[in-house]
Amino acid sequence: MTEPTFRYARQADTPALVSLIERAYRSPETAGSWVSEAHLLTGPRTSNEEISNLIGREDSRFLIADIDGRITGCCLLQGLNPEPASAPATPCAPKVTSLNAAYFGMFAIEPNTHGAGLGKLVIAEAELRVQDLWGANQMVMTVISVRTALIAWYERRGYRVTGATLPFPFSETSGETTRDFHLVEMRKDLA
Ligand SMILES: CC(C)(COP(=O)(O)OP(=O)(O)OC[C@H]1O[C@@H](n2cnc3c(N)ncnc32)[C@H](O)[C@@H]1OP(=O)(O)O)[C@@H](O)C(=O)NCCC(=O)NCCS
Repeated sequence: MTEPTFRYARQADTPALVSLIERAYRSPETAGSWVSEAHLLTGPRTSNEEISNLIGREDSRFLIADIDGRITGCCLLQGLNPEPASAPATPCAPKVTSLNAAYFGMFAIEPNTHGAGLGKLVIAEAELRVQDLWGANQMVMTVISVRTALIAWYERRGYRVTGATLPFPFSETSGETTRDFHLVEMRKDLA
C-alpha cells in the first residue's frame, strides 16, 4: 500500500465522503465480512446534508487519508466540552487532570483497501490530531454492541469498553433488520 497523506475535508469533498462511508459500512461490496453492518441496517448511513454540516462545524474535522489523489479513508473528529477534575488538588493529593475527550466516528476505509493496515494508520493519526487540535487527553466513540470483531479490533488499538451504553438511534430510514442491539461506549486515554 502506498503511504497515505492526511488532510482535513473541504465542502467539495462531501460527495466522495458520502460515497466512501456508504460503501464501507453497508454496501454489497462489504456485506458478509466482519467489517460490514449490512446485516443489521439497510438504510443509508449518512447524507450529503449531514456530511456538509459536519464539515462546516467549528468543533469538528473530517480527517481524510489520500492515496494517489483519492480519498481512501476518513473519520470524523469532534472536540467535546472539557469536564473539570472531580476533586480539586490539595497539598496532600496529586492534581487530578480534567477530562478533555474528543469524539471519533464515521470511520471508513475504501473497501478494496480493507485489511491492508490503513485503518490502523488513520486511527493513530486521528489520536495525534485531536491532541493538537483541542488538547484532548482521551478519545471516545460508540460501537454497535453486536459487532464483536470490530470491538476486538479497537481493543487491540488500546480502547476499552466503559460499560456505558446508549440506545441505537433508529429512524424512519435506518432500515434495521432487528432492534436487538444498542451502542457501547469505548474510550482510550491519550498522552
Ligand atoms: C473497520 C475498518 C475501519 C478497519 O480498517 P482496515 O483498514 O480494514 O483495517 P486494518 O487493515 O488496519 O486492520 C486489519 C485488521 O482486521 C483484522 N481482520 C482481518 N480479517 C478479519 C476477520 N475476518 N475477522 C476479524 N478481524 C479480521 C486483522 O486481524 C487486522 O487486525 P490486527 O492487525 O489487530 O490483527 C474498515 O474495515 C471499515 O471501513 N469498515 C467499515 C466501516 C466500519 O465498520 N467502521 C467502524 C464503525 S465504528
